[in-house]
Amino acid sequence: MGKVCVVGASGKLGRYMVGHLLDRGHEVVGVCRERSVPKLAAYADRITIVPGPTNDREVIGKAVAGCDGVLTVLVPWGVRQYSSGTAQAVLDHAEPGARLVFSCGWHITKDGRDRYSWWFRAVLRLATVVGRLLRAVEVDDQVEACRRIFASDRRWTVVRGSDLEEGESQGLPVWSRHVGDPILASNLTRRIDFALFMVEALDDDALVHEAPAIVGRLAPSARAH
Ligand SMILES: NC(=O)c1ccc[n+]([C@@H]2O[C@H](COP(=O)([O-])OP(=O)(O)OC[C@H]3O[C@@H](n4cnc5c(N)ncnc54)[C@H](OP(=O)(O)O)[C@@H]3O)[C@@H](O)[C@H]2O)c1
Repeated sequence: MGKVCVVGASGKLGRYMVGHLLDRGHEVVGVCRERSVPKLAAYADRITIVPGPTNDREVIGKAVAGCDGVLTVLVPWGVRQYSSGTAQAVLDHAEPGARLVFSCGWHITKDGRDRYSWWFRAVLRLATVVGRLLRAVEVDDQVEACRRIFASDRRWTVVRGSDLEEGESQGLPVWSRHVGDPILASNLTRRIDFALFMVEALDDDALVHEAPAIVGRLAPSARAH
């Protein structure tokens, strides 16, 4: 794997991914909003930055050209289908055969076999309604983005993150197919390790067409199982 594009490179997860990719010797292209370019200052002389909204098809087309892998941060900000627009642009424009890895939260299910607590479902419903009323977030659109990815015959992986915390790396998180599996119970991952999982997934063919839910490898539930 040579050249890799990070879509949403200026965010917290995005910057960790850029760091991991550079450590591994990859050529890196980063896409971020124009106003967020300064957040990548530490890497500016080592990566190519393509400024623009991540759901802009022209921006994505330019950024992913020639890339063997694309790491995409899916976020549901605003009420203009930012997440599904971003996913669709990547699915449509990435090179044939490119490895595509997307990030999202645990609330998204691939096969309906995840088991969520009533509390989690209630909070999610509330967030969906309030987010839309405030025109701030479109939780449903991240679900739509993933639906399109799951339906695609691209070489995709959707990495589903637990709650996140900052801190030093604990190594590669462990994963399971379904929320509710005992190994995931601790529901906490270091953000730097979420990024590590995304980057390592590029070379892990066993993760193609999977939606792994991850948890920190030193989390109590991971140690216990
Ligand atoms: N935070 C959590 O606890 C958590 C838990 C599970 C999974 N995840 C997943 O992890 C991924 C990233 O999480 P993170 O905590 O690292 O997030 P983050 O640092 O806040 O990054 C989020 C991304 O959203 C962009 N963004 C922020 N406001 C925006 C707006 N108004 N319009 C368009 N883009 C905007 C940021 O770009 P700019 O740099 O341009 O602002 C950045 O690329 C997401 O896929 C999320 O679903 C997060």
